Amino acid sequence: MIGHGDVSVVHLAAIEKLGADLVGVSDSATDHRVVLDELRPDVVHICTPHDRHVPIAVDALERGVHVLLEKPVAHTVEEAERLVAAAKDFPHLNVGVCLQNRYNATSQKAREILKNHDGVRGASATVIWHRTREYYEAKPWRGDKSRSGGGVLINQAIHTIDLLQWLLGDVEAVSGHAARYGYPGVDVEDTADLLMHHAGGARSVLFATVANVVDSPVTIEIVTDDATLRIRGDLTVTHRDGRTDVTAEHRNTTGGRDYWGASHELLIADFYRTVEAGEPFWIGPAEAVKAQYVIHEIYRRNA
Ligand SMILES: NC(=O)c1ccc[n+]([C@@H]2O[C@H](COP(=O)([O-])OP(=O)(O)OC[C@H]3O[C@@H](n4cnc5c(N)ncnc54)[C@H](O)[C@@H]3O)[C@@H](O)[C@H]2O)c1
Repeated sequence: MIGHGDVSVVHLAAIEKLGADLVGVSDSATDHRVVLDELRPDVVHICTPHDRHVPIAVDALERGVHVLLEKPVAHTVEEAERLVAAAKDFPHLNVGVCLQNRYNATSQKAREILKNHDGVRGASATVIWHRTREYYEAKPWRGDKSRSGGGVLINQAIHTIDLLQWLLGDVEAVSGHAARYGYPGVDVEDTADLLMHHAGGARSVLFATVANVVDSPVTIEIVTDDATLRIRGDLTVTHRDGRTDVTAEHRNTTGGRDYWGASHELLIADFYRTVEAGEPFWIGPAEAVKAQYVIHEIYRRNA
């Protein structure tokens, strides 16, 4: 594991649960190339700030190491594209990106309902969270656009944007705003609104902020011709005749923060399964960069 900060605890817990051999944990005091050369791991988990994802991932691929990377792919789309290209150069190595909310019970159920459904009309979503000034002061890269790439969109709402595009279809056009209202001295947006047009004709809207006073549950409401799907913790599907079905979400047992959800461990286990089976992993850089293109377009429009 490279990068031993906040999120690494969830990766360590998942590795332990899997029974995989943890051969080393390193942080910024050690050059990652020395670590990779000396320890020769099969898999590297990259849990560093956004601008350090791709350089470390490319060095790992060049050494024959499978890569499991925290989101986003990179702090810029240009850098993300560098990893998309590198992953193609090493097709026998897996590169996975931790968009773990695709493994939520609610997301999986919604996907099952919506896949091949031709009556999906649209969705609305909210990410209304709370980040303190200390959150940025403790880890200054988070509030430094040159290192993080941005704020609430690329760091927090990326999961929900990814789910909307995965559930409703690729995003063909997006408009919106990103603004900094609450955190003087921080160089990234804390609040944003988006309107997305998806392939197939569905439309979605999203509001995201980290300036709320608490971490409210993420909400996603999807409207189809015959039902409304509401995710807020659990998923409730209300059919046109009034019947409802509820899918309960997995409970968080990984020791991570509640708003990270409970699915890191599922994604990590699935990644290792594919490595062992010699199968490709489905959330690689080319898949994960889709949400980043949406975010990049908002930043470009608001530059
Ligand atoms: N999937 C999720 O839900 C989720 C949740 C939280 C964080 N994250 C992601 O995890 C990553 C890390 O976030 P965090 O909150 O743990 O950050 P953090 O600042 O707490 O930890 C990052 C660690 O990386 C180390 N580091 C920096 N440069 C390094 C280098 N060149 N080599 C080795 N180590 C280096 C830092 O010293 C620090 O300990 C980010 O990409 C973030 O977006 C994902």
